[in-house]
Amino acid sequence: EVWNPSGKYRVVSTKSMPGTRWIRLLADNDCRLEICTETKTILSVDDILALIGDRCDGVIGQLTEEWGEVLFSALKRAGGTAFSNMAVGYNNVDVEAANRNGIAVGNTPGVLTETTAELAASLSLAAARRIVEADQFMRAGLYDGWLPHLFVGNLLKGQTVGVIGAGRIGSAYARMMIEGFKMNLIYYDLYQSTRLEKFVTAYGQFLKANGEQPVTWKRAATMEDVLREADVISLHPVLDKTTYHLINPERLAIMKKEAVLVNASRGPVIDEVALVEHLKANPMFRVGLDVFEDEPYMKPGLADMKNAVVVPHIASASKWTREGMATLAALNVLGKIKGYPVWGNPNL
Ligand code: DGY
Repeated sequence: EVWNPSGKYRVVSTKSMPGTRWIRLLADNDCRLEICTETKTILSVDDILALIGDRCDGVIGQLTEEWGEVLFSALKRAGGTAFSNMAVGYNNVDVEAANRNGIAVGNTPGVLTETTAELAASLSLAAARRIVEADQFMRAGLYDGWLPHLFVGNLLKGQTVGVIGAGRIGSAYARMMIEGFKMNLIYYDLYQSTRLEKFVTAYGQFLKANGEQPVTWKRAATMEDVLREADVISLHPVLDKTTYHLINPERLAIMKKEAVLVNASRGPVIDEVALVEHLKANPMFRVGLDVFEDEPYMKPGLADMKNAVVVPHIASASKWTREGMATLAALNVLGKIKGYPVWGNPNL
């Protein structure tokens, strides 16, 4: 699909993206925009090389693509200077290879904070209250009347929410769980989140003034403290060498037997084989997963676990956010081509 065929700059988007703002932005600013119409979900390096071709100023790519030396050097040879991931995470991008080839890299932070936090909160509730299991039970025609033991789950109020990685998304998630469900907070991050601490303190004072039990917060000295103490734990680290398999058999073992673990960051943060074993051995332990170690696949056994809620990497999937991500990705590429600032710029 081609927009503004006579545009001076050739920009390629490896996927069609939501909304039209990003298309207008490029097409109205002298770009010839080519949107790949290939129907297979994950493009190979060869597919993308063919899209880059002999002349290409910039590319908007997706988190399912491996952007390394081969693609960045091809983009350089084609005269390109700009690449933007349509994602905040850029673990699929070799930023050093981009630097070597003089390609600016953009990402799309900010517009997906609340949407992603809302999905992590949804997974927390779905897992704690066994929503998916109960839904499947209903649809299977198994409900034959109210029972005291039927789908008993965990009450969140007064329990402790644990956040690992209290950046933008982790902090937004924490606020939702604290304000929405009056949970206490324990968090682990290399950096202190004073804004989050101030929020919990003020909210605790508000509750106290209204005769309610105040919520509390604690910044944990170690990640293990969070895993040991929290009832619901949500993972929000960036994926890199230091966070690969952050949740391993040893760390699973110290978590409460009835804890809920949520991951809407990146799959490899959890050792998924170990997780399946842990779910099998601890039926009251529950997980809510948006991401998987080998997407689009799940490790054997995970799909059979009733104590797992699984969704296909949809944390940022609200219309507003996806249109915003597309617009930011277009702005990043256009910005580099035209000499404006690049929004998310991991390598600049
Ligand atoms: C991201 O942006 O990194 C998400 O995983 C997809 O929205």
